[in-house]
Amino acid sequence: MTLKDKNILLCITGSIACYKSVDLYRELKREGANVKITVSSSAAKFISPYIFESFGEEVFSDDAFKSPLAHVSLSKYADLILIAPATYNTINKLACGIADTLITLVVSASQDKPKVLVPAMNPNMFSNKILQKNLDSLIEQNFYVVSPGIGGLACGDFGEGKFPDTSDIMFELESVFKEKTLKGRRVLITAGATREYLDPVRFISNASSGKMGISLANEAIKLGAEVSLIALNIDTSCQYINKNIRIIKCKSFADLKDALLSEFKRCGILLMAAAVSDYSFKEKSSNKIKKGDLNLNVELVQNEDLLKALSEMKKEEQIIFGFAAETDSVIENGRKKLSEKSLDYIFINDVSKDIIGGDENEGFLINKTGEIKTFKRESKNKLAEELLAEISL
Ligand code: CTP
Repeated sequence: MTLKDKNILLCITGSIACYKSVDLYRELKREGANVKITVSSSAAKFISPYIFESFGEEVFSDDAFKSPLAHVSLSKYADLILIAPATYNTINKLACGIADTLITLVVSASQDKPKVLVPAMNPNMFSNKILQKNLDSLIEQNFYVVSPGIGGLACGDFGEGKFPDTSDIMFELESVFKEKTLKGRRVLITAGATREYLDPVRFISNASSGKMGISLANEAIKLGAEVSLIALNIDTSCQYINKNIRIIKCKSFADLKDALLSEFKRCGILLMAAAVSDYSFKEKSSNKIKKGDLNLNVELVQNEDLLKALSEMKKEEQIIFGFAAETDSVIENGRKKLSEKSLDYIFINDVSKDIIGGDENEGFLINKTGEIKTFKRESKNKLAEELLAEISL
């Protein structure tokens, strides 16, 4: 709930995508933000200010300045100015310092308040060199820009210029308010469950969904890190995954081992949230085994402990953070794994408490000096935020 109690000034300028800002407004309110709205005179032709007034909001418009100093009081009110959609015209005016509408006037008076632009327009307009040059210049002046989506637009053209998904915009807004504590850090995260195949259709695996690892990856991006996510058999449609996360898809223990061996040396922090199979089949069939032909005494071989192996090759400045699922003697087993695998941190949870696959988690964090911190049940996103804040750099 990074946006809780934050004052957001939602400025809507005249693109056909205006109606999408209603969803954005609703999401901001759901996250506990206070919202004031300004609608430009062209935007008011696409959507009626009554929409927001019927939610009990006061709407400020170009043609009806509530007071001659509305732009000054609105810019003072705002913790963040969000221009969504931001048209070609408004972006170019802002870059040139033109202030002839309520929205451009508010920006002119906003000093160093964070400002987020959500461009939405025809792809030819978006790729126009004048606009691109002006966007670069606004970025240099600390404006944030949410990249438009790619797809079919109202005009019938296909390309870059679509109003982005609300979740992408919300992600950017939350990022703006975060201190970039992981800027310049490379974070490697593993998530999901390995699959050890017996034949092309049968495998040993476990119920880990990968949600905790995805929450960690999203949070690390918000903190400014460069993030790679080794995703093991995750349904990537089940949860928001920020597009700046580099995803390396793997299936089996062997794939994971290869990926870790090539990625680990370049990372500063490894968060090993994946549930790794301790066994693989000694022999695998490349064809599906018919039921009558299955040897019921299939032989398993033990997989090596990857964290242990990585700890042995770890450089002084690297941080290794392990996870453990337990059902008994939770803390005792956690301590044992921390020490046997030479970890800097371990987060242990009691999986008898109906946690696997859900959106919430709880557990204990132990650091290498043996200190324990308890985390009560909360969303995996919130827990990810708290766990990353615990890592001392
Ligand atoms: N892990 C690993 N290599 C394995 C098994 C696990 O690197 N072969 C990592 C997991 O990704 C996790 C941590 O070790 O970060 C603990 O995993 P867990 O399955 O809880 O413990 P195990 O070491 O496998 O021990 P056990 O199954 O006996 O509890």
